[in-house]
Amino acid sequence: MSEGPSKQKKPDPCSFVIFGATGDLTHRLVIPALYNLAASNLLPDNFCVAAVARKGVSGADMRNSLMDGLRKFATRPVDEEVAMRLLACVTAIEADVKDPASFDAMRDQLDKVEDIRGTRGNRLFYLATPPNAFLPIARELGRTGMLRENGTWRRLVVEKPFGTDLASARTLNAELLKLVTEHQIYRIDHYLGKETVQNILVLRFANGMFEPIWNRNHIDHVQITVDEKLGVGHRGSFYDSTGALRDMVPNHLFQLLSLVAMEPPVKFDAHSVRSAKGEVLSAIQTPTEAEALQNSVRGQYVAGRIGDADIGDYRAIAEVQPNSTTETYAALKLTIDNWRWAGVPFYLRTGKALCTKRTEIAIKFKQAPFAMFRDTQVDRLSQNFMIISTEPTEGIELQFNTKVPGPTINIDGVEMKFRYKDYFKAEPSTGYETLIYDCMIGDNILFQRADSVEAGWQAVQPFIDAWKKAGAAGLETYKAGTEGPARADELLARDGRSWRKLG
Ligand SMILES: NC(=O)c1ccc[n+]([C@@H]2O[C@H](COP(=O)([O-])OP(=O)(O)OC[C@H]3O[C@@H](n4cnc5c(N)ncnc54)[C@H](OP(=O)(O)O)[C@@H]3O)[C@@H](O)[C@H]2O)c1
Repeated sequence: MSEGPSKQKKPDPCSFVIFGATGDLTHRLVIPALYNLAASNLLPDNFCVAAVARKGVSGADMRNSLMDGLRKFATRPVDEEVAMRLLACVTAIEADVKDPASFDAMRDQLDKVEDIRGTRGNRLFYLATPPNAFLPIARELGRTGMLRENGTWRRLVVEKPFGTDLASARTLNAELLKLVTEHQIYRIDHYLGKETVQNILVLRFANGMFEPIWNRNHIDHVQITVDEKLGVGHRGSFYDSTGALRDMVPNHLFQLLSLVAMEPPVKFDAHSVRSAKGEVLSAIQTPTEAEALQNSVRGQYVAGRIGDADIGDYRAIAEVQPNSTTETYAALKLTIDNWRWAGVPFYLRTGKALCTKRTEIAIKFKQAPFAMFRDTQVDRLSQNFMIISTEPTEGIELQFNTKVPGPTINIDGVEMKFRYKDYFKAEPSTGYETLIYDCMIGDNILFQRADSVEAGWQAVQPFIDAWKKAGAAGLETYKAGTEGPARADELLARDGRSWRKLG
């Protein structure tokens, strides 16, 4: 039976200092995750949550607000005793980078609280704020000496998005590394908190049967899909300056790609795993402008229907430019220049307002080399796919051909399915539990290192540049509630392939 983080050791005493404590992420995911850790007895015995807001909020108001959030977003029934134990650790702190003295005051306040709670000066600073506040806050923490490790540990958790392009990611890395060393930075990508995603490593490297065929000799191509049914909703301003490519590809889709495509690390430790992931991302071929346009599709949704709901045009959303060319759908064909993957295309697609919510990696194996069963109708034959999915169900599926019972040789495609929920009784989680727990025990294997972040941006930058230059030319539209723009099908059809059906 699995119950969240497998390592059952309690973290060191520490303070969990969260900036953006009044925000959505704190209420929706961070506090429910801390609650789940508390319920599993995986928080330190000496613990403090310092909830930082720019405007003064009393301790009682902060605790009430976090409790309301917990009631709304908890992934399991809330046990009042556990919730009260967690909320008793919460202290509200006021600090704003516009008022540097507030950070000096915060340092003194933290010192006092830590004396009382016995957290020994270990601090996790979680930046749950808009990205433009990451660096100013880190600079204030640096100026006031709060990032200095002096027989204690000090860690900085940085939320996504980490940069908006290659240049800004490089700058953010360089500036943060003036304040802390790499081992203190935890660049979070919540996809890595998902069990199925972590299981890709186990599937590949703890089993003898898959790795020998995990290469260009046996794999025809790989499809990575992260599709959403939801439209852009009320996030028009953020989304219109971001788009599907920036929002999803260098982080989430590349996490999946790097786990599927990386070389076996020499050890299961942060250095080896992160190096192997970084290497494969840097092996993604850099396309020319013409190749980038040819090997990509971008689309924007127009009014349609998803289930029972009517969805309007993307361009009609508040704070979206009326002539916006921001894509709500992106599909790319990438190639990886190394011995394992030469000639194996990786097709990536992600979009909003589509017919289904699905996250999967589909690995298509090559056809059997000799068509022995000539009389079989081709459409009866299954394509040999291995599908690793996290949405709508977490599991792994194999598609292969089998003989239909009877006196003649008739062949039919069948599926062999493993679903997590059939084997393991895991409590529903937010996906942040393992990540927060790992930050507290100092294990950064699931966090992105500077080189991987930059390699990810490097790989998408040619597409960003080419699309910007092309403007409206080449931007497709698709009806909300469909599988996306038709040209995405052509991207594969050109190579004699097709996407797995979404519906
Ligand atoms: N929400 C999610 O599901 C989710 C998921 C993954 C990643 N993220 C990332 O998490 C971060 C926070 O997102 P969110 O959805 O929680 O946003 P949000 O609801 O807008 O909350 C932002 C928080 O940051 C504070 N804040 C705003 N500007 C600030 C500044 N200049 N300095 C210090 N604090 C500032 C706000 O506090 P005030 O009360 O002081 O204004 C608020 O508490 C973003 O980087 C986002 O990309 C969010």
